[in-house]
Amino acid sequence: MKAIFINGSPRKNKNTAQMLESAMNGAQEAGAEVEMIHLQNLNFKGCVSCFACKRKGNTCSGLCIQKDDLRPVLERILQADVLVVGSPIYWSYPTGMFRNLIERLLFPILRYDKGEKPNTASKYIDKQLKCGLIYTMNNTPERYKLVHYDTILEPDRQYMEMMFGHCEVVNAFNTWQFPDYSKFDTSAVDVAEKQRFRDNQWPQDLQKAYELGKRLVEMAKEK
Ligand SMILES: Cc1cc2nc3c(=O)[nH]c(=O)nc-3n(C[C@H](O)[C@H](O)[C@H](O)COP(=O)(O)O)c2cc1C
Repeated sequence: MKAIFINGSPRKNKNTAQMLESAMNGAQEAGAEVEMIHLQNLNFKGCVSCFACKRKGNTCSGLCIQKDDLRPVLERILQADVLVVGSPIYWSYPTGMFRNLIERLLFPILRYDKGEKPNTASKYIDKQLKCGLIYTMNNTPERYKLVHYDTILEPDRQYMEMMFGHCEVVNAFNTWQFPDYSKFDTSAVDVAEKQRFRDNQWPQDLQKAYELGKRLVEMAKEK
């Protein structure tokens, strides 16, 4: 049982990384062999639209043909049982690194020819992978709804589910951005209120991530 955790934040030990580590602990507790990958350490780009993966008779087998630091990661994902990808929200969307990964992971799996069943994506591989997406953001749960992040983020969950069979989301809101707010120009932030939110919420968010990791491995064992 292999579980891969991918950090789409440039920061390797802050909110997103900590949520992923907690999910990784849960996966380990459920008996998985775990691996954390920080996209920030890799030199890679998004899809270049070469369409090698769509050519007649191609031998890509769902794997992007571009040879760079991401390719071995994509290979390992396609051999894994559980995948959890985390990203901070930047300007209402996951990071560019996250986007590049999603393009390169999902597009080579999608076929352009007609599938056997109507309304289902035709795919180059029949890979079942229990997936999770973890998002961390500055916005509060109330603002998340107000600015429609749920709608903005839903397509990625759906694409992951369409390709791999299962995908669920865990969010962490109103995250702690700096270790010491007094050192930054943050007069518009009610730091005391933010601290209260964090003290109460952050342990619960880490627990949700832990449970996600554990649950996904347990689901993968059942299949
Ligand atoms: C460039 C940039 C843009 C951001 N844009 C948003 C945003 O649109 N909405 C939001 O809720 N938080 C936004 N944030 C805050 C981050 O999403 C939040 O602090 C996140 O938890 C950081 O994750 P990390 O600690 O793993 O780096 C932004 C942060 C940065 C650096």
